This record gives sequence, structure tokens and C-alpha cells, in this order.
Amino acid sequence: MEPQLLQEATSFLKEKVSEKPTIGLILGSGLGVLADEIESPVKVPYNEIPNFPVSTVAGHAGQFVFGTLEGKQVVAMQGRFHFYEGYSLDMVTLPVRVLKELGVSQIIVTNAAGGVNESFEAGDLMIIKDHINNMSQNPLIGPNDEAFGVRFPDMSNAYSDRLRTLAREKASELNIQIKEGVYVANTGPCYETPAEIRMIRTLGGDAVGMSTVPEVIVARHAALEVLGISCISNMAAGILPQPLSHDEVMETTERVKAEFLSLVKAIVKEM
Ligand code: HPA
Repeated sequence: MEPQLLQEATSFLKEKVSEKPTIGLILGSGLGVLADEIESPVKVPYNEIPNFPVSTVAGHAGQFVFGTLEGKQVVAMQGRFHFYEGYSLDMVTLPVRVLKELGVSQIIVTNAAGGVNESFEAGDLMIIKDHINNMSQNPLIGPNDEAFGVRFPDMSNAYSDRLRTLAREKASELNIQIKEGVYVANTGPCYETPAEIRMIRTLGGDAVGMSTVPEVIVARHAALEVLGISCISNMAAGILPQPLSHDEVMETTERVKAEFLSLVKAIVKEM
């Protein structure tokens, strides 16, 4: 990432908001409703920000929302960029660098994902315990800018133990049956074949999706504390007889959004 491109985007955003956000929320397919809960919102569409790509997927509004959530200064990304849209991973992860520059130290990354673990069902929420990067790409490839982070970042505690414990506690207080597991990122945009899902299960994956991993790699490079939550929007290919569709993904996230909202808000309150 060219430092100058980043600085231009960041300076533009700093002029729009007076309070510095400390928590960043990256909201996945159908989960953008969380940003509607932000008080005194300041909305900045991505297409107004210098050097920003434009989100192209239905269900992703494409804007930053700054404001207060549960008494905390937050900035939410309502919509994110995906590798399958044709953006380089540099572009996909530019917003994470921007969050860091804006003063964010903790992020909650969310996504809709297919359930690979057969004990899961559509509508479950899953705390991401760890991930497998199956994209055959890495956003840190290229010269390393030491001002951003180290050349060889440690990924052994990518998903903060502390935040995972907090998430489990809050889920239990809210009577939400939370799952925990390993998220595997594929490039998409096609869904997986049943054979690929069997492979992913054999490799230790519990859920599968097309996002999150590049952002988390860059977040860890930037020493941000990360919590990841997947909404299991469908069972992965080959588990149930019906075909997979984006409509099912959107229907399920719509169905569980109240639970998702109350959980994330309870976590944000105590982060
Ligand atoms: N596979 C990959 N990505 C997804 C899925 C899936 O089954 N569901 C939602 N995102």
C-alpha cells in the first residue's frame, strides 16, 4: 500500500469527524444493519473517499458510519470489498489501514459463512477461533513498510483470547447458543463443491466464506486486537439437498439480525 494513498483517504475522513473512533466494525453481507444503531451517525460513502474502491455486491451499502455505540466511539464499515470483485488484496484491506490511522485499536469483523461443521445449523452465530487462508494470496506480499508492521507477523493469537472470552460471556448472558470454530476463506465467487467442503472439513474448517482473512491478516500486521463473528447463513455445499444461493444468505442474516445486534452491542459495551 502506497503510504500517500492511505494518507489522502485518512485525511479526508479526519476532516469529517471530530471524535476519534477506537473500535472498528466490519459488517458482512446482511449484517450492515448494526450501523443503523449508531447514535449521532456521520456517514461517508466510499465513493467520496479519495483512492477508495466502490463496493459492488447487493446487501453491501458501501459507507463508513462514525458515531457512538453503547457509549463507545466506533466506526462501522457498512459493506466491505471482496477479492472476487476483482480488487487486489491491497485494495480489499485498505480500509483496515485507514481504521488504524484513524485511531482504532480493536476491530470486530463479521461475515456470513457456510456451515461446514455438521453440528451447526443455518442461523447459528460462530465466534472465529482461528482461520485458514485458502485464497492462495496474501495481502502482505510485496515490500514491507516497517511503519505499518513487521515483515513476518505472528498469527498464533490472531483472534484475541480476551475478546473471545468476552463474546462467550455475553452470549451466555443473552441466552444465545454461540458456536466457536475455524473459518476458512476461499476466493469465491462460486460456492464450493461438496468435495471441496469435505476437504475443508478434513483440514479442520468449521465454516467457509469469501472474506475476513485478508482483513484480519492486515489488522494483525497493524497490531489491532481482533474479534471475528460469523453468521452461519447456510449449510455448506453437499450437506443438505437444496442448492446454495445468495438469497438464502440474505434471508438467514435477516432472521438472526436481532440476536446478532444484541450480542455485538453487549460486547462493544465492555471492550
Ligand atoms: N460458502 C462460501 N461463502 C459463503 C457461504 C458458503 O457456503 N455462505 C455465505 N458465504
